[in-house]
Amino acid sequence: VNPVTTLAWVTSSLTRTPTPALAGRAAGVTSSLVRELLALTERQGVISFAGGLPAPELFDVDGLREAFDRVLGGAEARRALQYATTEGHAILRALLAARLTGRGLPTEADDLLVTTGSQQGLTLVATALLDPGAVVLVEEPTYLAALQCFGLAGARLVTVPGDDDGIDPAALEEIARREQPSLLYVVSNFANPTGRTLTAPRRAAVAAVAEALGFWVMEDDPYGELRYRGAALTPLAARPEIADRGLYLGSFSKIGAPGLRLGWLRTPGSIRGPLSVVKQAGDLHTSAIDQAAVASYLATADLDGHIASLRTAYSLRRDAMLEALARSMPVGTTWSQPDGGMFVWARLPGDVDTADILPRALAADVAFVPGAAFFAGSPDRATMRLSFTTHTPFEIAEGIERLGRVVGQAI
Ligand SMILES: Cc1ncc(COP(=O)(O)O)c(C=O)c1O
Repeated sequence: VNPVTTLAWVTSSLTRTPTPALAGRAAGVTSSLVRELLALTERQGVISFAGGLPAPELFDVDGLREAFDRVLGGAEARRALQYATTEGHAILRALLAARLTGRGLPTEADDLLVTTGSQQGLTLVATALLDPGAVVLVEEPTYLAALQCFGLAGARLVTVPGDDDGIDPAALEEIARREQPSLLYVVSNFANPTGRTLTAPRRAAVAAVAEALGFWVMEDDPYGELRYRGAALTPLAARPEIADRGLYLGSFSKIGAPGLRLGWLRTPGSIRGPLSVVKQAGDLHTSAIDQAAVASYLATADLDGHIASLRTAYSLRRDAMLEALARSMPVGTTWSQPDGGMFVWARLPGDVDTADILPRALAADVAFVPGAAFFAGSPDRATMRLSFTTHTPFEIAEGIERLGRVVGQAI
């Protein structure tokens, strides 16, 4: 250390004028205590139900490696390493369109914009469709990072009540008449965090309200193919009433691997151009090599077979969690019975705050996400989100037993 330069640095840093303040939209964005506590769930021995993570041991590593090898070893390699179009890899879009069509959402390749994770789709839509102060209607509770995304766009979030069948269309109509929303955001299947699914009659009713009152409907559906019981429902975005205002967000994260950051956004033609320009400003295009590899994977691997094996494994894990909750949680605790997806939403009896219980749970080597962060309105602090996908049934039983003991002492 040179004392002269150190002294000069100290002097100059004392006399420096301060940097400008953060932008208003970022100023309120701080790390929360809960987030810091959840960082501790990485610790060895912790059975964490906190992260919304797919099971890594179930990733089709061999299939994906072969797909990357084919792309990098073949004639397409140099093109796949070059800049590419903003809309996305043509063959990938065609294959994704065929999958969506097969699920009851008739789609052409040109209807799709490939995104860097479906999370980017949320940002693109917020940027393209929401002026500051625009009203976005959301389920209560709902996906935290969607709330953050709409919040960063300066939108005003208004909650719509619902129950185990999803949002209540009558309440939606009343609130939409009053609030004049720009957009309704819905996680239609096995929602994050509640595990709830919007029923078919309610899909029709929601679409009718959107048609009558004229707002965009964004269906976010990363979990739809992870169904463990009951029949698949036709996507909300397929309702004819909202053909000109329904948006659909899909993701490779939960059926393939989230590290690839691959999602897709299906939109009406009227907003496709502006959304592409917004994406261009953000990242020019989603990784071309990753898109080419996933296109090759979809064309050759048995993705449906892979999803079937995920369903088998995850349904056993869900059952293990539901059985363990019934065995281990104090009387008066309630929880959802999800037909698919990754999450159980639980509520403790009485007037407790699950954020106060989290440090004690961590001390007992078990973790969950306190529910408050998922509420746009006034939070129900007695709630928690439990993810059942990342541990074996045996570990889940052990983890819920630990949680039951901690909760029993805390309430
Ligand atoms: C409802 C919902 N939407 C979007 C996402 C983002 O997923 P992706 O990995 O495709 O960006 C998630 C991830 O957990 C989610 O739960």
